[in-house]
Amino acid sequence: MQHLVGLRELDAPQIRRLLDRAVELRARVKAEGAVDLLRGKNIGLVFLEPSTRTRFSFEMAARKLGADVLAMSAEGSSTSKGETLWDTAKTLRAHGADAFVLRHKYVGSPHQLARRVDVPVINAGDGINEHPTQALLDALTLQDHFGDLKGRTVAIVGDLRHSRVTRSNCFALPRLGVRVILAGPGTLCPDSMSSLGVEVRHSIDEVLEDADAVMMLRIQRERMAPGMLPSDDEYAQIYGLDMARLKRLRPGTLVMHPGPMNRGLEIASEVADSTSSVIFEQKANGVAVRMAVLAELLRPEAT
Ligand code: CP
Repeated sequence: MQHLVGLRELDAPQIRRLLDRAVELRARVKAEGAVDLLRGKNIGLVFLEPSTRTRFSFEMAARKLGADVLAMSAEGSSTSKGETLWDTAKTLRAHGADAFVLRHKYVGSPHQLARRVDVPVINAGDGINEHPTQALLDALTLQDHFGDLKGRTVAIVGDLRHSRVTRSNCFALPRLGVRVILAGPGTLCPDSMSSLGVEVRHSIDEVLEDADAVMMLRIQRERMAPGMLPSDDEYAQIYGLDMARLKRLRPGTLVMHPGPMNRGLEIASEVADSTSSVIFEQKANGVAVRMAVLAELLRPEAT
């Protein structure tokens, strides 16, 4: 594997290898504090869309493996003066970047960068296309709870149209044997979502009893056209995971959310903080899978 631009490109053994490596590195870091696998390497973190979780966990992952980071965002860098992504990348490369982690609003920008640079590129979210490391950390969290994922069912609910998390999960989870069901209002879950090869329904109430995990999605107002969403109250009533709906889940069903959450909209605050919620376990697993991806791309042969 030269780059990680999406999970569409990975087969089941490649996904399993990354998950195994995440488990191994997580255990080693827990036991030893850090692992010097990437000593002397510099990781360029280029975040041109906002991020908290992904950026911090890549930074933490790099440092836990002994690497240094060259971190930049749109604000405060010369991209705000119009510098192109290519010139930005060449500048970071000249400063010693051995890999790029890129978040960008344009679909396909990591793929373009990967074609032009001579070091690995990792997609940290490209517009509405893919967010591969998020889906890997979701799979790791599910695996921590269920072991082998074969035969499990994951329902993904909400603003599917704008969700790169959904697209990456729709590539990864079925390859691990998981049945994926999508549910959302027609404006946010068009029938074309079925082209991802998963089931599509239009009511949260149709999926609750079937699911081993319910992944709630953030309403992405920043990507929405007017008229896509009813009022917040209506959305919360029709599609929100509240305590009444939580009680309808089978015992042991997990509640997930990639974050950031709109508490009170797609997920009630009590649900996010309930014992069914593994939302903050997802965050912690972000460091593990990002260590695995960095190690796999920069030191594939190392153990
Ligand atoms: N889940 C996720 O990508 O969160 P951030 O936007 O905070 O990185």
